[in-house]
Amino acid sequence: MWWCFFILPTVVALRDIEPPPPTPVTRSTPVESWLTVRLNHFDASNTETFQMRYLYNDELANSTNIVIFVGGEWAISAGWLTGGLAYELADSTQAALFYTEHRYYGLTRPTSETSVPDLRYLNVDQALGDLAQFIQHVRSDNFENGRYRDGNVALVGCSYAGSMATWMRLAYPHLITVALSDSGPLHAQEDFPEYLEVITEALRSQGSEACVTSIEDAMRNITDMLTTSAGVQRVSQLFNTCGPLEASSPLDLATFYWFGITETFAYLVQYATPGDIPSACTRITNSTISSDPVERLASWITSQPTTQPCIESRYSVQVAAHTNTSYDSPQATMRLWTYQTCVEYGWYQTTTSARQPFLSTVPLEYFHQMCMDFFPNLFDTALLRSGIARTNKLFAGLTHLPDHVVSVSGGHDPWAPMAPNATHATHLAPVFVVPGVSHCRAIRATNNSETEELENTKRRILQHMDRLMTGRTGAGGGASNIMFSPILLVFGIFYLVL
Ligand SMILES: *[C@@H]1O[C@H](CO)[C@@H](O)[C@H](O)[C@H]1NC(C)=O
Ligand SMILES: *[C@@H]1O[C@H](CO)[C@@H](O)[C@H](O)[C@H]1NC(C)=O
Ligand SMILES: *[C@@H]1O[C@H](CO)[C@@H](O)[C@H](O)[C@H]1NC(C)=O
Ligand SMILES: *[C@@H]1O[C@H](CO)[C@@H](O)[C@H](O)[C@H]1NC(C)=O
Ligand SMILES: *[C@@H]1O[C@H](CO)[C@@H](O)[C@H](O)[C@H]1NC(C)=O
Repeated sequence: MWWCFFILPTVVALRDIEPPPPTPVTRSTPVESWLTVRLNHFDASNTETFQMRYLYNDELANSTNIVIFVGGEWAISAGWLTGGLAYELADSTQAALFYTEHRYYGLTRPTSETSVPDLRYLNVDQALGDLAQFIQHVRSDNFENGRYRDGNVALVGCSYAGSMATWMRLAYPHLITVALSDSGPLHAQEDFPEYLEVITEALRSQGSEACVTSIEDAMRNITDMLTTSAGVQRVSQLFNTCGPLEASSPLDLATFYWFGITETFAYLVQYATPGDIPSACTRITNSTISSDPVERLASWITSQPTTQPCIESRYSVQVAAHTNTSYDSPQATMRLWTYQTCVEYGWYQTTTSARQPFLSTVPLEYFHQMCMDFFPNLFDTALLRSGIARTNKLFAGLTHLPDHVVSVSGGHDPWAPMAPNATHATHLAPVFVVPGVSHCRAIRATNNSETEELENTKRRILQHMDRLMTGRTGAGGGASNIMFSPILLVFGIFYLVL
């Protein structure tokens, strides 16, 4: 996950972007507001507060129902309150629609800077506490004279915000009627080699076996080239690195391979729309472009938005960019999300698996070093490991899915291995795995589905959530034209292949 795409598309990271907003189906403009929330929800003696930003659209509200599109590690924007699945759910349940901003991201800034001591209150427990306080406020008499007093609450989130939706139902079941998690990883894990395995599988099945082979040939060839100074020069030039590649530095090499190569494929596959992967593979294997796999790979890599204007392979430059403690620094979001991975999740997309073509170019130690250098005097691997164990202990990882949660993943979403699949589903917590689909595709509008299975899945999800919100057995609104057995909805496990 992760590019600082909306600010500066040159640097990559372990994080997500806001899912590209859907096409608006309304002209109404959501309102921006702020709520005063506690800085520390778990220490009654700490009375400090900060301003949490949220967006609000009441054009569909004609009941006490509340639908919240949950913000993750990005700045919120109005698009998700004017179209998409959450909007359609608000439509069918006549609900008010909100979009909450996660503490420390966007303009929700609890501290003046992001120094290591400032980041003490950046973790998901506190962010869930914010959501709980937000929901209590909206359902109270203090919000619009009790217009939504004691209303039912649906959460919709994707990626990390999807994990938050699931964890809200686990931590605050009395506040959440139903939650949808699209592509939400639930199991924290230090090394995450499965990520590049799914990337490889997507390249193989949507592209070709030759595509994977060509990448591997190129990687071997690059490794050979880096043993001579003429070869190093050629690689720097072919891949358009911002400065000369320093082949004697393992950290610079890992920076080149990760920021430059594996993350470019991560971005391709994670955010793929139909046709993206086949066309990338066509270029990577087209021998008319060059008979040299390195030249073909370089030609594709350097044409991608994420490698513009050049690939920054100097580790020291990356560290300098990510240790700027201003919220307005171009790498602030990546710094904040990296902090969360260093103390809560891991999820480092290494090349430790043999089932991927990138050889052993990005080791786990690279990420340890990053945590250490981005957050000096805080991090060591013991902290990382105890943080991961704590996350899995508090939220159960994949060992327990709370009821009234709907989970959905794409079969070609590299995050799917950390998310629930059929084996985790229960009759009160259905899980859908939609083959061939990438990250965060289920929260898009029902009219915007690349496969029929995805379209059907979205309609089932809407109907299921509508029923839990309203108690209706035949669904209303957007889902009303779909024939679906309510018995199947309750007892079925929607595992649609992998
Ligand atoms: C391969 O590249 C050449 C030169 O750019 C182009 O003309 C040709 O259409 C490409 N072939 C395929 C199958 O895309
Ligand atoms: C890289 O591959 C090209 C074409 O296959 C080959 O001509 C060249 O010798 C290789 N270079 C190295 C350093 O292996
Ligand atoms: C940090 O980022 C801010 C905002 O972009 C910038 O004004 C400032 O000069 C940067 N500080 C350093 C030390 O680079
Ligand atoms: C489901 O996830 C578990 C890991 O939690 C994995 O061991 C299993 O292979 C997965 N099943 C399928 C069908 O993908
Ligand atoms: C779906 O598409 C049809 C035809 O393009 C359009 O009439 C309809 O309004 C769309 N529905 C939604 C919910 O966007």
